[in-house]
Amino acid sequence: MTRLPDPTTRPRGLVDQFGRVARDLRVSVTDRCNLRCTYCMPADGLPWLPKDEMLTDEELLRLIGIFVRDGITQVRLTGGEPLLRRSLVDLVSGIAALDPRPRIAMTTNGVGLERVATRLAAAGLDRVNVSLDTIDAETFTILTRRNRLDDVEAGLRAAAEAGLTPVKVNAVAMRGVNDEAVSDVLAWCLERGYELRFIEQMPLDAQHAWDRDDMISADEIRERLSERWTLTPLPTADRGSAPAERFLIDGGPATVGIIASVSAPFCAACDRTRLTADGQVRNCLFSQTETDLRGPLRDGASDDELLGLVRGEMWRKKPGHGIDDPDFVQPDRPMSAIGG
Ligand code: 5AD
Ligand code: SF4
Repeated sequence: MTRLPDPTTRPRGLVDQFGRVARDLRVSVTDRCNLRCTYCMPADGLPWLPKDEMLTDEELLRLIGIFVRDGITQVRLTGGEPLLRRSLVDLVSGIAALDPRPRIAMTTNGVGLERVATRLAAAGLDRVNVSLDTIDAETFTILTRRNRLDDVEAGLRAAAEAGLTPVKVNAVAMRGVNDEAVSDVLAWCLERGYELRFIEQMPLDAQHAWDRDDMISADEIRERLSERWTLTPLPTADRGSAPAERFLIDGGPATVGIIASVSAPFCAACDRTRLTADGQVRNCLFSQTETDLRGPLRDGASDDELLGLVRGEMWRKKPGHGIDDPDFVQPDRPMSAIGG
């Protein structure tokens, strides 16, 4: 068993045994969603967390405060679908009032964003990533099992108007579903000034149906896009801990990102950590362990005690996700209950 350094003497920062430092905290504010993307959820949804197991706004803000005082500089709100949390605007205001104030971003499916984009921006939200895998209404309905493409488009427009820029779009390509049309999604985003990033599909679906051989690889995306544009890789030095390999499109200035989460993992440069809606710290999407903060928090733990728990979980972070290892085991928690 690795001996944990004493959290009271260790220098400030959420470090692990491999020298990585967490700067980016992803907070899942709900596990619910209004879409049912086939690569994420079963058609009937999932057993949602009961309300009393979810952190209240006050609890969330206290925990996020502990993280930002220990080196977290960006907080990303995720879900499920974060817009389904009724108090989201207040939560953003609360995060913006923390000292030091982190950058605040959100990953959303865009449904309902039109209604709240301006209020979120006024509350302190800096940026959004909107998940959109296809711009074909029929494919969208098959993929998400909901006929909501118009809502997402309206949400994207509202985000840009509210100054939540650069507006980023995340797309997952799936064989036989939307892989033939990845160029159409890019052309659509280029016309509107959205920054598109493709993400390799990871084994995080609740149904455990992911198949490595069926995955559309980063190379395949690049080949498809290259049929229509000249892609020039941006120097990797500009990449830092950002997972996307970025390419200039026809000489720029527009770019496209491709995130090879599976075929070329960026674990060695990872600066992320996660807090789930029920108050568990997860040091990785693929972690097999979590540290409960909700119990100790409700039992009256001090900030220092909670910080000790967070640091302990970070210290145990593995060097990589190991998707390609023969003994890889998919985490029990699906993506929707971890946060993207
Ligand atoms: N692999 C890759 N990305 C995924 N997302 C959801 N499930 C997966 C998966 N298995 C994406 C969503 C969204 C973000 C939260 O993560 O499309 O962009
Ligand atoms: Fe909802 Fe995102 Fe899962 Fe789709 S991928 S069902 S939008 S949580």
